[in-house]
Amino acid sequence: MNNTFLKACRGEKVDYTPVWMMRQAGRYLPDYQRVRGTVTFLELCKNPELACEVTLQPVDILGVDAAILFSDILIPLEAMGLVLEFHEKRGPVFPDPVRTAAAVDRLRIPDPEADLAFVLNTIRLLRRELANKVPLIGFAGAPFTLATYLIEGGSSKFFFETKKMMYTAPELYCRLLDKITACTSRYLKAQAVAGAQALQIFDSWAGILGPDDFAQYALPYVQSIIADLRQVTDIPIIYFANNGATLLAQSKSSGADVLGLDWRIDIADAARQVGDAVALQGNLDPCALLLPREEMAARIKKILAGGRLARGHVCNLGHGILPETPPAQAKLFIDLVHELSAA
Ligand code: CP3
Repeated sequence: MNNTFLKACRGEKVDYTPVWMMRQAGRYLPDYQRVRGTVTFLELCKNPELACEVTLQPVDILGVDAAILFSDILIPLEAMGLVLEFHEKRGPVFPDPVRTAAAVDRLRIPDPEADLAFVLNTIRLLRRELANKVPLIGFAGAPFTLATYLIEGGSSKFFFETKKMMYTAPELYCRLLDKITACTSRYLKAQAVAGAQALQIFDSWAGILGPDDFAQYALPYVQSIIADLRQVTDIPIIYFANNGATLLAQSKSSGADVLGLDWRIDIADAARQVGDAVALQGNLDPCALLLPREEMAARIKKILAGGRLARGHVCNLGHGILPETPPAQAKLFIDLVHELSAA
């Protein structure tokens, strides 16, 4: 098996730097568009055969060193009892945002084997289909990021309602976060039992918080999930706090084996900050996939050099690949990381 990715997560010696891309199964691939043309996004997430097919596409087409389960961070929130819609232009929408005690009380904590069986079945199917070709990453959203979607009712620019709940109804906020945390803990444990070989926690909106609010309202819930997972599994755990350069010192205490970096920080600088405690993942600007070969190569070389200062390095983009990216440029990125790191 190509276990370069798992080794790098653990800080073990590797022959080349492993690489995968956040959102690697997605709209930039015509093969994904073909499958997606036949079903809605939620139908795709809930159909293990199709979810398996699109998960495998970037492994086969691009030669990435890890597969990531095709699903969405919002899927378990639907299982908590909420209506979830995906709109072509607006993205995800919760028509009934969670802003009152009654709404928080109504949320149920799903039993993953019963309520999210399609995700676990996709994982089992993927492990069979992958046949140890590359490891499979499972994932979930971090409680704070999930809470923003529930409270705002979808994506947001200023997160006014979320911060309003934090500041004017902190007990309600904590009760909501406790419920999301319990749900996420169970969900990730179930993914590990079903066969996920690493887990990534996406904190896409952590960067909107100042350091004190991050310490009080976001990080403790991540720490609690990771501590819980450590009771049952020793697979690598990656924590990605998007726009989190100013939160790095705190993120180091998340308990994760690997910290994901967005592109706004120099990875060498990040490596100096975190020292030998954790491995790093990242962090090419997704738009840099549009650069001509030599310029892309120069940026990759700099990232690889910075990564060598860390305990371990998994190369990745600094956020999800954009739908506009030509697939040949994505392939160039993967090939360049392999070539330049093996040299
Ligand atoms: O990485 C992968 O390839 C695995 C699949 C995956 C998706 N979403 C598929 C998806 C993963 C890991 C996610 C995580 C996710 N989902 C995050 C965290 C990562 C990040 O980007 O910060 C967030 C915030 C979401 C919520 C979400 N899902 C939004 C805001 C949107 C709409 C915007 C967009 O990018 O389309 C989605 C939809 C979504 N999730 C798509 C895919 C492939 C596009 C759906 C389509 O085919 O129309």
